[in-house]
Amino acid sequence: MKYYITTPIYYVNAAPHIGHAYTTIVADLLKRYKSMLGFHAVLTTGSDEHGVNVERSAERAGKSPQVFCDAIAAEFARQWNVLSLGIDHFQRTTDPRHAAVVQDLFDRCRGNGYVYKGSYSGQYCIFDNLYVNDAAPGDPCPDCGRPTETIAEENFFFKLSAFAERLLALYESQPDFIQPESRRNEVVAFVRQGLTDISITRTNIKWGIPVAGESPHVFYVWFDALTAYMTAVADEGLWPADLHLIGKEIVRFHAVYWPAFLWAAGLELPKRIYAHGWLLFENDKMSKSRGNIVRAEPICQVMGADALRYFLLREVVFGTDGSFSYDALVGRYNSDLANGLGNLASRTLTMIRQYRGGVIPPAATTDIAAATISRVLSAYENFEFSKALEEIWSLISTVDKYIVTQAPWKHAKDATPEYLDETLYTAAEALRIATVLLAPVLPESTRKIWSQLGMKTSLESVRLDSLQWGGLEAGQPIGEIAAVFPRIDPKEAIGRMRELEERATAEQAVLMGKRPETAAPAEASAKISIEDFAKVDLRVGLVLSAERVKGADKLMQMKVDIGEPQPRTIVAGIAEAYTPEALVNRKVVIVANLQPRKLKGIESNGMIVAASVEGGKPVLAGFHEDIPVGARLK
Ligand code: MSP
Repeated sequence: MKYYITTPIYYVNAAPHIGHAYTTIVADLLKRYKSMLGFHAVLTTGSDEHGVNVERSAERAGKSPQVFCDAIAAEFARQWNVLSLGIDHFQRTTDPRHAAVVQDLFDRCRGNGYVYKGSYSGQYCIFDNLYVNDAAPGDPCPDCGRPTETIAEENFFFKLSAFAERLLALYESQPDFIQPESRRNEVVAFVRQGLTDISITRTNIKWGIPVAGESPHVFYVWFDALTAYMTAVADEGLWPADLHLIGKEIVRFHAVYWPAFLWAAGLELPKRIYAHGWLLFENDKMSKSRGNIVRAEPICQVMGADALRYFLLREVVFGTDGSFSYDALVGRYNSDLANGLGNLASRTLTMIRQYRGGVIPPAATTDIAAATISRVLSAYENFEFSKALEEIWSLISTVDKYIVTQAPWKHAKDATPEYLDETLYTAAEALRIATVLLAPVLPESTRKIWSQLGMKTSLESVRLDSLQWGGLEAGQPIGEIAAVFPRIDPKEAIGRMRELEERATAEQAVLMGKRPETAAPAEASAKISIEDFAKVDLRVGLVLSAERVKGADKLMQMKVDIGEPQPRTIVAGIAEAYTPEALVNRKVVIVANLQPRKLKGIESNGMIVAASVEGGKPVLAGFHEDIPVGARLK
């Protein structure tokens, strides 16, 4: 029985951070979990290397696209190594084998009549690789708010419109095809609006897979990227994937485009798509320009990969957005790992050494873990990782209390030998069961506890579906005891992680060749007069309220007081850089005399001023001193 899992193949125009690590760690957890259920579990990740963004990033770094991609792809692969992830395939889209699979998909779609040549003329956002229908020249991109460019070209189109009904029927008959429920609803609503055909080739991009015999066409990045899931396992015949694990922002490509491409080609569909939430840093979206990127490596160096895994899976309810902070990471480590699991292990094993000469006593028959086992397995099955961990920690705390009540240290001399045997066996067996259940989440530390318990078989070979009370063998000598989770001094650890993080930032800046975007020197004739500048009405505004615009990940709708009787409604492409809470009560700069413009059907009456570096997120202009609302900037 096979179980094929994929993560997104990551863009190489940003270096890996814990956001990417989050998805890949969960995929690794699921692979371990499925393996322990007897599946032949296979995990593919990779890198998405084509397209105009990568071409530009390479140019900025002063490298050829291929050399640039090699460097960043290696950085991703190194990251997965540092995290000891069980990756079977690292699929790069520049792998020559991949081009053939993409071409084959295209030929099949075309052969079946789902591809036609048409002409595209319209607005295009180079940052999102998005052709924006119904936009006028100069209109902003509905996703990022940056100005679109006008292009006219001949493209191959894919008849996406032919699949709307079939897709809706699929979502209906397989309700768990897209999970969680909220994402499924979003996709259903999107498809119900009707689907338009999409262009799947480009002629204005050089850095892409050429369409055979159709020069200068190259494949559109998503047609190319999604297919990587098949390329990776082409030799093993493992398609279809059992699970595509992705972040919520790319659900449409996976749940709408991808099944349609596969149907058109007469190929099998993936079984399930799970789109998880966003990992924020101290409640803000991580972004280069905000300088709040967190990488996995410094955390692994200071606290170990398991500490990061535990934190991400326990603290964030899988499927919803969650927040990372160094304080919370160290706090969780000390309270749950050092004081909880680590303490139970050392306490139990030390008592066995002290009172029973380091040999597991005769088995106790009272099973205190059956309910935990079944609840944890069903939580894993349902992607409820934080719940699974809560269940395991509730067992740990039950055993802790049990040990305190039994107080073996008080009764070492006066109680019957059976009393002590029972107490020690119960604690050790519960520890063994917790260790097995935790193996998919904490592979490195559970292996240590396993060998301290003196177990002979490998932990990974234990079958989760036959886990039950009594597996620990009486008479088995325990191994050498050592602290698995030594307590960590928060101040010292956080200081070291931040320092390593800064060093990594500097190293990666060199790798990416990134500098803030500098405006091209204005031509003499392009200089403007002071009168020209005075035409722009820049005002101090106070954000009164902010909410995300539904169906547009990047857009935020705000009410801004700029000193007029009524607040203005302003829509801006800043929702990936700021949370609504971070905006409310903030003083910002508004261009007050722009013509109103409709974004996602909402009229925006003004523009919020922000700076950005290419490929980065916008950073709002603000003031160091206080200044009244409505004041003009001149
Ligand atoms: N190349 C496309 C995916 C193509 S798949 C056929 C892409 N790449 S990406 O580099 O932008 O990666 C996006 C994915 O990285 C998200 O879907 C998610 O899995 C992961 N994450 C990146 N940052 C993240 C957070 N801050 N939080 C959670 N996941 C994040 O899109």
